[in-house]
Amino acid sequence: MTDILVERRGSTAWVTLNRPDARNALSRAVNEQLPELATEFDEDDGVRAVVLTASGDKSFSAGADLKERRGLSPEEAGHYVTIISRAITSWADMRKPTICALNGSAYGGGLELALACDFRILAEGAELALTEVKLGIMPGGGGTQRLPRLIGEARAKEMILLGRRIGAARALEIGLVHQVVPRAGLDAAVQALLAELAVCAPLSVRSAKAAIERGYGKPISEALDIERECYDVTLFSDDRIEGLAAFAEGRPPNYAGH
Ligand code: COA
Repeated sequence: MTDILVERRGSTAWVTLNRPDARNALSRAVNEQLPELATEFDEDDGVRAVVLTASGDKSFSAGADLKERRGLSPEEAGHYVTIISRAITSWADMRKPTICALNGSAYGGGLELALACDFRILAEGAELALTEVKLGIMPGGGGTQRLPRLIGEARAKEMILLGRRIGAARALEIGLVHQVVPRAGLDAAVQALLAELAVCAPLSVRSAKAAIERGYGKPISEALDIERECYDVTLFSDDRIEGLAAFAEGRPPNYAGH
């Protein structure tokens, strides 16, 4: 069985973590493949959006593969963390919009991987947790940095320092996920989001994403300079002209992506 399934559906690349019997734990092989896929999608002009999901109904991902880690020396375990962290960062660094369709619960590195995506849609009944402190370690795949940025320091401390598991309703309430839907409606929810993205100019979406990613946390004057730099990419694009023409002519725009 292949640990990761990759499929193109139109201009969307779908990636499915496929180790349902191991609750889609992030094996070393999976962590090595994720950055390769991120680069491939970023370089492929035919890919406008990327969806990440997983097989089965129980787990999106149970995080780091704890069986693989057993018996590793501290140095080897440290190397493992570096690889998982790099994999997750490669996903966060993708220029294209990314959607995480959480078909089930996500723990540890599984949740950290979801945090690296732009949108998170969660199946009802699933739970989310950074359980590392209960395992004698701590989050090492970006969780201590990305989670507070997303839900605020106080709530992130509840989840990280206590290893607290939260249900889907709470995850939605605190802004950890964008949407909660019945498991059977997950695909339709992703399709609806993709349809919304499809009418937006791809270069605009990418530039706006870059402005948010690069500017967040920076002093406001520096952040505004970054915004302007990203804006200028759209300024010289054909799609800016097309957007204005379509508006004037009262028709839907036909964006070429440049
Ligand atoms: N790494 C490797 N294998 C894992 C795993 C992980 N992180 N999580 C689950 N598995 C394996 C189990 O060992 C089991 O394998 P087996 O069938 O060979 O015994 C299989 O997946 C199913 O797990 P099980 O616990 O029986 O399923 P469940 O549905 O009752 O519970 C979880 C699923 C995910 C809630 C539970 O397995 C769990 O808590 N896992 C650890 C999650 C975690 O804390 N991750 C953070 C890592 S830093």
